[in-house]
Amino acid sequence: MGPGREGPTPSRRSRDRESAVILGIETSCDETAAALCSGDGHIASSVVSSQADLHARFGGVVPEVASRRHLELIAPVLREALAEAGATLDDVDRIAVTQGPGLIGALLVGLAAAKAVAWSRRLPLVPVDHLDGHVASLYLQPEPVDPPFICLLASGGHTMLLRVRAHAEHELLGTTLDDAAGEAFDKGARLLGLGYPGGREIDRLAREGDPTAFAFPVARVPGLDFSFSGLKTALLYAVRRLAPSELERRRADLAASYQQAIVRALAGRVGEAVEQTGLEQVAVVGGVAANSKLRESLPGAALAPLALCTDNAAMIASAARFVEPLPYPAYLGLDAYASR
Ligand code: KG4
Ligand code: ZN
Repeated sequence: MGPGREGPTPSRRSRDRESAVILGIETSCDETAAALCSGDGHIASSVVSSQADLHARFGGVVPEVASRRHLELIAPVLREALAEAGATLDDVDRIAVTQGPGLIGALLVGLAAAKAVAWSRRLPLVPVDHLDGHVASLYLQPEPVDPPFICLLASGGHTMLLRVRAHAEHELLGTTLDDAAGEAFDKGARLLGLGYPGGREIDRLAREGDPTAFAFPVARVPGLDFSFSGLKTALLYAVRRLAPSELERRRADLAASYQQAIVRALAGRVGEAVEQTGLEQVAVVGGVAANSKLRESLPGAALAPLALCTDNAAMIASAARFVEPLPYPAYLGLDAYASR
């Protein structure tokens, strides 16, 4: 099957919506990811190649370094996703790719790869918003969550409360006025001299600390919005007040107290959103949804499985299940976007 072939193969045409095979691609930040999912939400394979180690020595993601690494990894990651599912491109019915928001150079690598694969097979393509992708991590098997629900989306770039009305329809109830929750974890970790990405490090160290040792503030902003920049400054001052040896001794207490403040802010807002909307079902997605304290503090909530909290391509393929794809060649002119 070369680029000259027109139209889908008969087997492809006969595959219904449920059994359609979707190849998802995600490269918005520092994870190069590809996954194969079926139209009914079963994950056949999900490969995530994290560049975290590469960026760790810089204490955060360096955009140019990320783009170059995506370029090296995208073909092997795609091959691995197909191999893990025991599939070839002949089995794929549709391509789904993150179009934004994210690092523009990083996004372009995934988008160009997706266009190239889709073009070579005359396949339809679905451009996916990364945040819709995070929400769609809840729609995957074996325990899909059905709308309506209140969704807390907390990642490195975003912190939002959404009212999800249908699979591809949601309304923004609140967002952060400054830093995202994941960003607060990452910046806090840097102040504490911990590694990158910081959320996981704080989560780990906090287990050995006392969450009541330091009284960090939970910002009071109007409505259902969030603010984390004051908290970060409070941690900075607390760290500065301690002598180096004392800081070493109190590091776990600082991590536990800081984490507690972030989790309180998030869980508190979720409670208020439930009260205001009357919706009882709550779900949590995004990298920060991996936080053990946050998971503990929302016992009734549907929590995205750990492997699907941080960036992955299965969630991108999942989001594409609920959107009409663009037929060949309508998608060839698509551009990536850095912010919504
Ligand atoms: O969703 P994600 O992989 O990427 C973005 O879309 O931003 O989220 C990454 C963020 C990082 O800020 C990272 O520190 C945070 O998720 N994170 C955590 C944990 N694991 C990852 N934050 C708190 N606790 C964790 N266990
Ligand atoms: Zn993300």
